[in-house]
Amino acid sequence: MELKCLHVADIFGTPGMDMVKDTLPRLIEERQIDFIVANGENACEGKGITDLMCQTLFNVGVHVITSGNHIWDRKKTFYSENPLIQKFLLRPLNYPTGNEGKGSVVYQLKNGIKVGVINLQGRTYLYDIDCPFRTGEREIEKLKKETNVVIVDFHAEATAEKIAFAHYVDGKVSAIIGTHTHVQTADEKISSSGTAFITDVGMTGPHDGVIGMQKDAAIRKFILQTYFKFEPAHGDVRLHGLFFKVDTQTGKTTYIERIRIDRK
Ligand SMILES: [Fe+2]
Ligand SMILES: [Fe+2]
Repeated sequence: MELKCLHVADIFGTPGMDMVKDTLPRLIEERQIDFIVANGENACEGKGITDLMCQTLFNVGVHVITSGNHIWDRKKTFYSENPLIQKFLLRPLNYPTGNEGKGSVVYQLKNGIKVGVINLQGRTYLYDIDCPFRTGEREIEKLKKETNVVIVDFHAEATAEKIAFAHYVDGKVSAIIGTHTHVQTADEKISSSGTAFITDVGMTGPHDGVIGMQKDAAIRKFILQTYFKFEPAHGDVRLHGLFFKVDTQTGKTTYIERIRIDRK
């Protein structure tokens, strides 16, 4: 069977959440999408995500929520009593043991198809956490005992680290989707082994600021090198994502398309 999948890029603040609510149901219908992963690390004013926001995303069709470094900005995130959040909200797997939350899941769709999702975080220009390559490789082997369809959200700053990881696990997963920089790259491809890759899928949110935040405070911080309170920007709202089709028998991706929808 051909599984039509969508990854929704980092959802940023209320503009990003509103865009998802307004756009996703139509997109699902138009493209007959079977499975949706959305990165929610910036959903709540750019920093983390709330229970209510997770629930809203599940209600509009998201199956699994991935995240990244900003998921730790809200202390209570992984103490939710909502079983859906406990199961289907991920944080990068390779944070040190002892942290709350989980970094992978196998989602079983109503038709019985299983989809594995792994969330990892790079270390270059980020935090000195466990090795995403070795941690990721072990987790892929584990998930592949249950399904050949495995999607990786690789949250990282450095282009080279994401590309190196894609080569490292080439042919072992269906897709590796880069997140975190909030700038969509035009390098989506399917390798000869059937693994889809994009360096960064972009950001679902306001694009008239600096990677989601209002530009004035960002400019002042860069010039003055002191703390400024950041507020989410508002304008030029876009939904960014990656649409791809996976052969559920082999786990290989057969089609890939970058998505950019501008708020009218
Ligand atoms: Fe982000
Ligand atoms: Fe991030």
